[in-house]
Amino acid sequence: MIKANFKVTADVVIGKIDPRMWGSLTEQLGRSVYNGIYQPNHPLADKNGFRRDVIDAVKKLKIPLVRYPGGNFVSGYNWEDGIGPKSKRPIRLDLAWKSIEPNQFGLHEFLTWCKTINAQADMAINLGTRGIDAARNLVEYCNFPAGTYWSNLRIKNGQKNPFNVKLWSLGNEMDGEWQIGHKTAYEYGRLAHETAKAMRIIDPSIELIACGSSLHSMPSFGSWEEEILDNVYDDVEYLSLHQYYDDNDHDIKKFLSSSIDLDSFINEVISICDAVKARKHQTKTMYLAMDEWNVWYHSKESDTKQKPWQQAPNLLEDHYTFADALVVGSLALTLIKHADRIKIGCLAQLINVIAPIVTNNEGTPTIWYQSIFYPFMQVANYAQGTALKVNSKVADYTVSNRVVPYVSSSAVYNQSKCEVVLFIENKAAEEVDFDYKLADFPQVTLKEATQFAGYDLDETNEKQTMQIENLKDINVNNQNCVNGKIAPYSWNMIRLSAISHG
Ligand code: AHR
Repeated sequence: MIKANFKVTADVVIGKIDPRMWGSLTEQLGRSVYNGIYQPNHPLADKNGFRRDVIDAVKKLKIPLVRYPGGNFVSGYNWEDGIGPKSKRPIRLDLAWKSIEPNQFGLHEFLTWCKTINAQADMAINLGTRGIDAARNLVEYCNFPAGTYWSNLRIKNGQKNPFNVKLWSLGNEMDGEWQIGHKTAYEYGRLAHETAKAMRIIDPSIELIACGSSLHSMPSFGSWEEEILDNVYDDVEYLSLHQYYDDNDHDIKKFLSSSIDLDSFINEVISICDAVKARKHQTKTMYLAMDEWNVWYHSKESDTKQKPWQQAPNLLEDHYTFADALVVGSLALTLIKHADRIKIGCLAQLINVIAPIVTNNEGTPTIWYQSIFYPFMQVANYAQGTALKVNSKVADYTVSNRVVPYVSSSAVYNQSKCEVVLFIENKAAEEVDFDYKLADFPQVTLKEATQFAGYDLDETNEKQTMQIENLKDINVNNQNCVNGKIAPYSWNMIRLSAISHG
């Protein structure tokens, strides 16, 4: 049997987990907004046309932040199309996804929906087909109190007080050839700098995210970050990174090791940011926004066969397997491991489109949860507080010269709840005997122990057979050691009541 030993010490910490770590991307794409968030003719729609079943499901994830309207969509989007009377809004071609965009859901609807789910907005601006002018007008529309053309128009459109959108993304994946208005690093760096400058003149309190690489494997990775940071280091608080994983090689050991690649990606981006910082004699630290991450591959082939120019087509509708849930869980643990530098995270996406939540346009059930919903729900709810450094001694295997521990873990101390939460994932096909030492936490007692386990790796959850269960036979002894057994291929969470010495 595989043995795994872990140790945390109360005052040996990585850093505070920013509450925005467990956000999401919600793009005007496929059935994410239309027939997802917004479906006025649905029996469960509220007065705004928002589906109440979706609101309830999203609230289970306590989503703190929503990045919108894209994604690739934003690079061809005119934000003005989505304001004012709905009957007057134009129907447009969305070139990013070859779809029809009716613009019935726009800025006010989005920000009202954010309020309904208690989330903050991360407003992405179009730096593909547009630039400084559209961006500065949008900031004026959203955040300027009154008395100017755009702020008065906002008031006329029903919003008296400024929306006060605090977080803004300067474009989307501008390094990608597929992006409408794709740019070289120099072109993007200059444009992002000038756009940031104009936006900040209107509202100096905003925070900005610059586009980093859209995949670790991009040929321009590294040089892109260096060159754009030369232009925008002073202007932005965050640099983005995006990453999706797949099992196209049908190699489960490799697929389950995806988080090792994510870990390298993050470390490399941090090194580049710090090298630019040193070269610029800067004192400011660049934080990271992992504002797209997930598994994405099941739907790619069928999407190529979709008829173009439909409204709300079934695009990117991956049906996730249990293996995907394990990968999503381990990616989340990697984010926790980098809580000192990653301040923003967005699971991509939220509803229907590569999403934890799926809706049916009609009939019952109206909604169902994918396998990936469960580990994400647990981190979103319980990975709040301070990430502790975890020392581990675990058997490992090797994939492409990379060492992969069979068992990975993160530990979080939530001081306000006097709680330590241990997340433990087993990537092995056999049971694991684990032992967790919590140093400098006197009086540890067990609150709850759960497992997500026992499913075939390729099982999906359309029938809603998957669930989180109690994890039995966990012992907490008076030396503050927690031990027990975890199932093969399993995601586990142990909540302990604990107060540190400090
Ligand atoms: O999330 C789906 C797409 O993935 C987004 O639109 C884009 O930013 C990324 O390539």
